[in-house]
Amino acid sequence: MGDLVEEAGRLLREAGIDTFRLESAWLVEHVTGRSRAAQLARPESGVPDEAVLALRALAARRAGREPLQYVLGAAVFRGRTFTVSPAVLIPRPETETLVEVALEGLGDRRRVLDVGTGSGCIAVTIALERPDCEVSACDLSDAALDVARTNADRMGARVRFFGSDALSSGFALEAGGPYDLVVSNPPYIPHPDAPGLQPEVVGHEPHLALFSGSDPLRFHRALARAAVDGLVSPGGCLVCELHDGTGPEAARDWKAAGLAGIRVLPDVSGRERFVCGRVPLKE
Ligand SMILES: C[S@@+](CC[C@H](N)C(=O)[O-])C[C@H]1O[C@@H](n2cnc3c(N)ncnc32)[C@H](O)[C@@H]1O
Repeated sequence: MGDLVEEAGRLLREAGIDTFRLESAWLVEHVTGRSRAAQLARPESGVPDEAVLALRALAARRAGREPLQYVLGAAVFRGRTFTVSPAVLIPRPETETLVEVALEGLGDRRRVLDVGTGSGCIAVTIALERPDCEVSACDLSDAALDVARTNADRMGARVRFFGSDALSSGFALEAGGPYDLVVSNPPYIPHPDAPGLQPEVVGHEPHLALFSGSDPLRFHRALARAAVDGLVSPGGCLVCELHDGTGPEAARDWKAAGLAGIRVLPDVSGRERFVCGRVPLKE
């Protein structure tokens, strides 16, 4: 088994992957079921031929700079393992903070919508952590919705999924509001930033999930308009993840759209990455 770990590690190192040692051990664990500790303790133990072939195939995919999570078919989000495929964005650690902000904004209210659900990581997490809530989630991509449904079913989360275009003018009506909380990690990378992204991201993750044309706030503006148009209930909350550096402009736009109590909040590294606001209560 030691030879196998070394062979996979060499392939990954030659592909320029800095974490080749750790990743080759994870790949070996995935195909053999033997933990890293077991690999280190018994490097001389044998591995069945089919596991060797499976490992070579997975290592070749990773060497082609496919993200490890797609190769393994799984990503961890807030301590739970989500199925992922190239149809969905790989859940990011900062989005765990978005869930925190959203749960705080929701308070003891109950109707929740996750816009652009992807793997379903936000909707499924809220449904599991707040089982008293009615959680809905939508996406433009049918393939993403299939992955999200798989995750919800496997984890026993009650979520209503539906296909919808959040940028369409009828979204507020079509989405079945009003909701007490609308949360979204929308596409927000401007296309001109594409050449600066890692090959794993730009070459493998769905461009529908990443890019927002030339405007990083395209979805945030549309969601603010929809929120005051009936998507969010009076006193209810809209919470979105942001592209780094767009917080002040997002806050100005949301105020102009009629939202109140707007706050821009940092991620764990101190960068302003979340915006939240409320639809004013009726007089
Ligand atoms: C950045 S990903 C977020 C995925 C997931 N919520 C997460 O946080 O990992 C954005 C999601 O928005 C979806 N999307 C893109 N354009 C959309 C649109 N016009 N209407 C609804 N969803 C859209 C994409 O398919 C993708 O799943």
